[in-house]
Amino acid sequence: MSKPIFAANWKMHLGPDAAREFLRTFLESYPPAGDREVWFFPAAVALETVARALADRSDIRVGAQNVHWEPKGAFTGELAVSMARAAGAQAALVGHSERRHVFGETDEETGRKVRALLEGGLIPMLCVGEKIEEREARATLKVVQRQLAVLDGLDSGVLERIPIAYEPVWAIGTGKTATPDDAAEVHAAIRAWLGERGADAAAVRVLYGGSVKPDNVAALIAEPQIDGVLVGGASLNPVAWSEMARVALD
Ligand code: PGA
Repeated sequence: MSKPIFAANWKMHLGPDAAREFLRTFLESYPPAGDREVWFFPAAVALETVARALADRSDIRVGAQNVHWEPKGAFTGELAVSMARAAGAQAALVGHSERRHVFGETDEETGRKVRALLEGGLIPMLCVGEKIEEREARATLKVVQRQLAVLDGLDSGVLERIPIAYEPVWAIGTGKTATPDDAAEVHAAIRAWLGERGADAAAVRVLYGGSVKPDNVAALIAEPQIDGVLVGGASLNPVAWSEMARVALD
């Protein structure tokens, strides 16, 4: 059984000083845990600070929020995979809904980023999820399968190492959460898609994200289809985040 992941997406919050301060408080109340992993996705400028502060914690990983697919070049404002890795990143988010819907990232670009990360030795965490109008049109599974299709052609062993975060766009930062049952239905479809491509779907970690908070994390993580959570707003408070990441698992 793979371990559940409690992932903190700090978005455009917490620079190096604030990140250091956060981790000082967080680590006081978060002793090493053998049954789960915590992943932090800080802003690029804080990656190195966070990676250094967590260097002796093998139960905690650090990742970039975004990378470019090219190894180097005239791409003002972008971050190469090798740079993220040199700063201490072990992973990166790909296809987060804000990248897709605020910055216009396409499936094709998402696919290139996945491959660049794999080639550069980092783990992509692929985010998928439908918009409210797509859910209302009952197109959720179609949209998610289209977003997953960037993984087509990868070996089953590689597929098993890529965590998938299902984040319905209408639930991100809105206070609206999918019910554990709603999420379970989509998670099962994600596993079925991976299974059809030869992956051992039980080995893949499928996370839920979208307004996960201290008061709903236990119900979400208790759902057998949910192997972790990707948390934005509620991961910015070190005390609340430590409590969430220590929630009981059964
Ligand atoms: P939220 O964000 O927890 O603030 O809804 C989740 C995410 O965007 O990953």
